[in-house]
Amino acid sequence: MNLSTAPIGVFDSSVGGLSVLQALHAELPLEHFVYLDDGGHAPYGERGDAYVIARSRAVTQHLRSRYGIKALVIACNTATMAAVALLRAEHPDLPIIGVEPGLKPAAAASRTKRVGVIGTRGTVTSAKFDALRRSLQDQAEYIVQPCDGLADSISRSVASSDNSKTIALCADYISAMGQFGTQAGQIDTLVLGCTHYVFVQDQLAALVGPQVQILSTGEPVARQTRRLLEAAQTLATAGPGRVQLTTTGDPAVLQAAAQRWLGFTTELAFIASFSASPDQALPVEP
Ligand code: DGL
Repeated sequence: MNLSTAPIGVFDSSVGGLSVLQALHAELPLEHFVYLDDGGHAPYGERGDAYVIARSRAVTQHLRSRYGIKALVIACNTATMAAVALLRAEHPDLPIIGVEPGLKPAAAASRTKRVGVIGTRGTVTSAKFDALRRSLQDQAEYIVQPCDGLADSISRSVASSDNSKTIALCADYISAMGQFGTQAGQIDTLVLGCTHYVFVQDQLAALVGPQVQILSTGEPVARQTRRLLEAAQTLATAGPGRVQLTTTGDPAVLQAAAQRWLGFTTELAFIASFSASPDQALPVEP
């Protein structure tokens, strides 16, 4: 079967993964992407592993059965931390690319060797994150800040023009991390460990100052996706590429986010909701 024309599935808890989709589309313009925004079940970051694993399984199953995807990009740090190993074990025939905070490139880029990391509580308290951090502990000191409510606030700000709550949360979390700057003892590199945070990069830059480097992972993830497709010999060879957006949440929010943030005007081919089937039922929130 020729998989080169099959789509690549991309998912996030909501609209944050559009930052990864943007990088994927730039790296692989001939490809067909189906983006699934799980906004009906967002946020993931403060809900615990069982919930995130159940959602990641349901979404992967849906993308496979409905669209016949040839690869899956988990455009969500929280879902990668909780579920990537399990999804790879359950779908051994499907190339799966995850996204995780760029601790290693940050250590290499930092001169003061003090690196700030912001992410959801699910990401920064996960065993996978802890193992990554320990493996790099001789390369830099990591100042890690869970940012409860920030991803959700960024998603909500799409629908309203009021982003004052988002800005206040950014200010609180950044000030809790200590001094930013390029002097010895200061944090000179900030890792965005959540795909939503790319959309407040300007606000974060204003808080940490212009000399602080801010790192996100969309581009490395896009290059890794290319490598895996090349290895599987499933790269698309003829365009034009397509981007389809789908959501379990509010299509108007996804559409507004895409218009505001995607930065390319490809056809938004399909916007609809999907509901998990009963056998993929979600754990109810406590
Ligand atoms: N965008 C997601 C991440 O990268 C998750 C945000 C959330 O739902 O809490 O972690």
